Amino acid sequence: MDTKKKIVVIGSSNTDMVIKSDRLPKPGETILGGNFLMNHGGKGANQAVAAARLGGDVTFICKIGNDIFGNETLEMFHKEKIDTTYVGITPQEPSGVALINVDKKGENCIVVASGANGTLSIDDIQHAEPAIKQASIVIMQLETPIESVTYAAKMAKKDGITVILNPAPAPTQQLPDELLANVDILIPNVTEAEIISGMHITDDESAKEAIRYISSKGIKTVIITMGAKGALAYENNEFIHIPAFKVEAVDTTAAGDTFCGGLCVALSEGKNLKDAIIFASKASSISVTRMGAQVSIPLRKEIQ
Ligand code: RIB
Repeated sequence: MDTKKKIVVIGSSNTDMVIKSDRLPKPGETILGGNFLMNHGGKGANQAVAAARLGGDVTFICKIGNDIFGNETLEMFHKEKIDTTYVGITPQEPSGVALINVDKKGENCIVVASGANGTLSIDDIQHAEPAIKQASIVIMQLETPIESVTYAAKMAKKDGITVILNPAPAPTQQLPDELLANVDILIPNVTEAEIISGMHITDDESAKEAIRYISSKGIKTVIITMGAKGALAYENNEFIHIPAFKVEAVDTTAAGDTFCGGLCVALSEGKNLKDAIIFASKASSISVTRMGAQVSIPLRKEIQ
């Protein structure tokens, strides 16, 4: 019998079109860049692939289009041994696409055409209920409709499943309290934590204040990812700071997604929060040393 704990990822899948340049262009400006790279992306799919490569038993719930990008994506999920029972194919919209520009420091700028991702409905979540009910962890992001994310969080929480939300991309309006009340672990970056808390984060103290405020919304564990500054976590009234592994960043795309996928795997294997964050940080630090989203995500054997 398979005793591995199941991880359900609900979210977006995109095809990323990436160009590296010395710097990011200003509005109205055309600049000449370097090589072009096309690879699989999307915050949901990146987290699903990260969790699968790092040793998790993963089911991915998403919507793709009935087109060449969608077909290639589905084939890739199979190669990664991700359960695709609840990958829906819609004839209504094209598969998601992201245009990404990466500068010489590895920072990026991303614009997403959501397409099929925007059709992931409450009906789709209801249809996937058998998978959600068998999960030990459900993780979601904000590249699919918020009503579906909220519905899935409520469904999972009701059954005592750990609900993780990576509130990315940064929300444009306050997240519904109904969603936050059903989240066990929130993993924002600094910008996202500022938006959710309404506080400006300038140092350790302000980060802690923002975390306390977010936690007061009913969230047990909050982890702010801070890039080269590491991660600051809060659980049971205690803060833990985990420094980042020092690496030369080439492209930070999907670093947060790799962290989230890694954290799910480590928690599903029974690691405590601190060890899970160390595992996730290691995986994420490897991903930033390589170009691209899913092409940059490491395998379990690369994590020492
Ligand atoms: O987090 C990185 C991802 O954001 C990219 O792969 C892109 O597709 C967007 O969803």
